[in-house]
Amino acid sequence: MGEPVTPLRVGIIGCGAISGRYLSASYDAYQVVACADLDMARAESVAASHGVKALPVAELLEDPAIDVVCNLTNPGAHGEVTQAVLNAGRHVYQEKPLALDRQSGAANLEAASRNGRLLGSAPDTFLGAGLQLCRHLIDDGVIGEPIAGSASMLCHGHESWHPDPAFYYRKGGGPLLDMGPYYLTALVALLGPVAAVSAIARTTFPERVVSSAPRAGERIAVEVPTHVGALVELVSGAIFSLVTSFDVWHPRSSMFEIYGTEGSLSVPDPNTFAGPVRVFTPGSQWSEHPTGDLPVQQRGVGMADLAAAATSGRPLRASGALAYHVLDVMLGVIEAVETGRRVEINSRVDRPSPLPVGLRPGEMDP
Ligand SMILES: NC(=O)c1ccc[n+]([C@@H]2O[C@H](COP(=O)([O-])OP(=O)(O)OC[C@H]3O[C@@H](n4cnc5c(N)ncnc54)[C@H](O)[C@@H]3O)[C@@H](O)[C@H]2O)c1
Repeated sequence: MGEPVTPLRVGIIGCGAISGRYLSASYDAYQVVACADLDMARAESVAASHGVKALPVAELLEDPAIDVVCNLTNPGAHGEVTQAVLNAGRHVYQEKPLALDRQSGAANLEAASRNGRLLGSAPDTFLGAGLQLCRHLIDDGVIGEPIAGSASMLCHGHESWHPDPAFYYRKGGGPLLDMGPYYLTALVALLGPVAAVSAIARTTFPERVVSSAPRAGERIAVEVPTHVGALVELVSGAIFSLVTSFDVWHPRSSMFEIYGTEGSLSVPDPNTFAGPVRVFTPGSQWSEHPTGDLPVQQRGVGMADLAAAATSGRPLRASGALAYHVLDVMLGVIEAVETGRRVEINSRVDRPSPLPVGLRPGEMDP
């Protein structure tokens, strides 16, 4: 499909645990050429193992051979690093969440517009085959009008595997800001924007003990709620319940379902790109729908979407505006917990357009 594209040149800032996924992804629309980190030795090690150049952060920002910066720093640095990239006149794609507060997120949307640059954000899993198939099934009316849904993301936190897990328990961490973006971005991409939220939460363990190398035995003071239950009212009128938790030992299942007037849809884990996708309609059993010709996709598809949009001028799908709405919803949930009141969500965003059917793996529509 389409003409061969000239890949945009990407520089990564933040060479931690997730950076390898971006460095090993393969999309026609971009190519990673450089990386940087506050820890120069870490940048050099990542650069050497992936055949790119390591640069100090300030030099990467000014390098004329870089078109797009991919911000893979910790959540507390997202707002500031993205602002610096936009002011340096580069497009930016960043990890979630967009920022830790609305002011910083809005300032970055404004900086993108002022500098004539694009701001894209993870998660991009809604562009994977599983969630794209769900989108087609909903739009085709297979479950009728969506009226409600329910999802849970239950686990016991990340201190058993992440090499430096403290940020998951600091402001900007917790199960809602860490994992909520996958669920809420999928929800908005499938059913549209959120109008209001109500919520309750608790912090079960005031301290976490790291069991992963190299920080095993270190203690982390927990600053955030670690079990959060939210009721989400969509502009469409549908009602969704979401529980995110770092307090639960081995639940038998985490789930994501959407209920319609004519049937029910079982949505795959929105932290993955594939299925299974299952549908129930009266008179039949739950049945799995194959993802067929939809490419599975991988981390990096959102950056490919941004690179293609930067070249052609079409709207972004994994956009800063979508990430801002999701941030607005998550902060609304925290405010609802703190005040015990229902919180109205002011921002709005359109559902991103579906990917065209028939793309081959690694291809993005112009
Ligand atoms: N680890 C995962 O499985 C995973 C999965 C999906 C998304 N993410 C997201 O990716 C981001 C990074 O996560 P991670 O697990 O790779 O974290 P990490 O702590 O392993 O790595 C972050 C890196 O960013 C660097 N850094 C921090 N502030 C910086 C700054 N101002 N300038 C330059 N470098 C800076 C740190 O030195 C570190 O090397 C987070 O937003 C996280 O939510 C992580």
